[in-house]
Amino acid sequence: MCGIVGYIGKEKTTPLLLQGLKRLEYRGYDSAGLALSINGSLTVLRQKGNLDQLEKIVDHDKLDSRLGIGHTRWATHGEPSKRNSHPHTDCSGKIAVVHNGIIENWHELRDELIDSGHEFTSETDTETLAHLVEANFNGDLKEAVKKALRRIKGSYAIAVISSEDPSKLIAARKDSPLVLGIAESGIFVASDIPALIDQTRKIVIIEDEELVEVAQDGYQITSGDDVLIKRDSIEVKWDIEAAEKGGFADFMLKEIYEQPSAIQDTLRGQLDEDGKVNFDDLLLDKEKIEDIDKIFIVACGTSLHAGMIAKLAIEKWAHISVEIDCSSEFRYREPVLSDKSLLIAITQSGETADTLAGIRKAKEKGAKIIAVTNVVGSSITREADGVVYTHAGPEIGVAATKTHVSQIAALILLSMFIARQKNGLDDSFFQKIAESLSKVPEKVDEILGKAETIKEWAKKYHDVYDFLFIGRGVGYPVAMEGALKLKEISYIHAEGYPAGEMKHGPIALINDGVPVLAIALKGKVFEKIVSNMQEAKSRGGSIIAITDSDDNQIRALTDDVFVIPESDEMSSAILSVIPLQLLSYFIAKERGCNVDQPRNLAKSVTVE
Ligand code: G6P
Repeated sequence: MCGIVGYIGKEKTTPLLLQGLKRLEYRGYDSAGLALSINGSLTVLRQKGNLDQLEKIVDHDKLDSRLGIGHTRWATHGEPSKRNSHPHTDCSGKIAVVHNGIIENWHELRDELIDSGHEFTSETDTETLAHLVEANFNGDLKEAVKKALRRIKGSYAIAVISSEDPSKLIAARKDSPLVLGIAESGIFVASDIPALIDQTRKIVIIEDEELVEVAQDGYQITSGDDVLIKRDSIEVKWDIEAAEKGGFADFMLKEIYEQPSAIQDTLRGQLDEDGKVNFDDLLLDKEKIEDIDKIFIVACGTSLHAGMIAKLAIEKWAHISVEIDCSSEFRYREPVLSDKSLLIAITQSGETADTLAGIRKAKEKGAKIIAVTNVVGSSITREADGVVYTHAGPEIGVAATKTHVSQIAALILLSMFIARQKNGLDDSFFQKIAESLSKVPEKVDEILGKAETIKEWAKKYHDVYDFLFIGRGVGYPVAMEGALKLKEISYIHAEGYPAGEMKHGPIALINDGVPVLAIALKGKVFEKIVSNMQEAKSRGGSIIAITDSDDNQIRALTDDVFVIPESDEMSSAILSVIPLQLLSYFIAKERGCNVDQPRNLAKSVTVE
């Protein structure tokens, strides 16, 4: 995830910025940079790679600055490279900007700015903002930033400096965190508290849509409608480890709670209100998609479960047959591929060896390849014809959570995109799905607000030997994912099964008290899964339901029930997986397991 640090004060800026950025390293990044105001002009230093690379080009003696901004970049628009790294400057090099977030309307703004003579040097959405500030600059940086932000759609935390107005640093936020740090020697801005913790514990939280003008000896916060806001600092008592985890006990829990914004960021800029999907890096036009007669999906682990939902969506909406396989099987079988085949490879890391081997095999047979990944510039992005990005930000916990729900969101978009090209479902259909998807982040928030219920379940179920998860339709991949999460982090034996298949074997596992968790979603298989729950109950199982149907029939049948908000069929997979992530998490904690680094597992599996 990108990180921002800025400083204005009495001390030399460069070491302070570097130290702050170093504290944000744990979040992952691919390049870094600084912009420093020195004797009436700006010096910008940027490097691809880690902070050591940046430090190599820093000459501390020459960089005598008291105002500066720094950034660690996690690529979203444009590959990791020196020219795409922040800070970005305007044409004159007198304004520098660092930005976290996504500017949704950057294409149209960029075209407009180019038409009026601005010259761009990067592929980023952020550079648009530097030129937009330039276009509005009249000697007062705050006014220019304010005007520029009025044109921006999307999310941002920004810090801006100008050599033309060097007594201030302007920062602002919308849907992306921003804080001030009040130190003896001056004032810091940062995207995250860990960046400041070596310098100060006096923190001012900047709220959404606020803008702040920071000078050496004070700050002034204004709201979106230009009202002055008085806000004092708070004292943070976190140690660095707690600060890195944002006050959560573990990265996994933090990432579970980041899911509403991870989904929001994945939808942002890729889906408009009319249900039109825009993928910047897909590179497959209508004709190529019309030509496709078969789709293959390959992935591993959690990504495979997201792929199973995509299969259901594509077949239902686009009426194209989809085969899905785990990458390690696909690469050694003889799938019937041709130049009319499309392979969708899903991998959060973009580096999974089996998945890469799968796409190479499909390519040899002339298939077109779409990668769905969370990491810009990862190996898979270089081998695929087109890429769909999830914008979940880096995930540190080994067990995938926020990348998984973002994959489902991105794959729903991809399925909509293919369906639109392929069979012309009417516009109102896509509008309805878009409307439903846009409400998913707040519904996830609602579910997370009831985490205490699941914590109680964990106390009850943490010492079982077996745990069965059953589902039908989209509930089946969710059940698979629930079982995988529980295995991964709590080491309890768990099975995820299609509920209708239970009677052909696994039902023999059920006896008194074995938990059987059913994903019971309204729709054409609802009554069927209720019958499967009944079968499990009559064999002594403890029945748990995750359901969007709060009715007596379910209540009578279950020992425990968690009701999720209703949604469209495909995105209800996102909503129903959240309680399962929480359940695994709380059970693992009850058992004293290390949830962030479970035994024998790795975040990125680059070997066969
Ligand atoms: C590892 C991780 C899983 C992940 C799987 C696939 O096994 O522990 O969480 O789902 O790899 O990773 P990918 O990067 O291809 O999605």
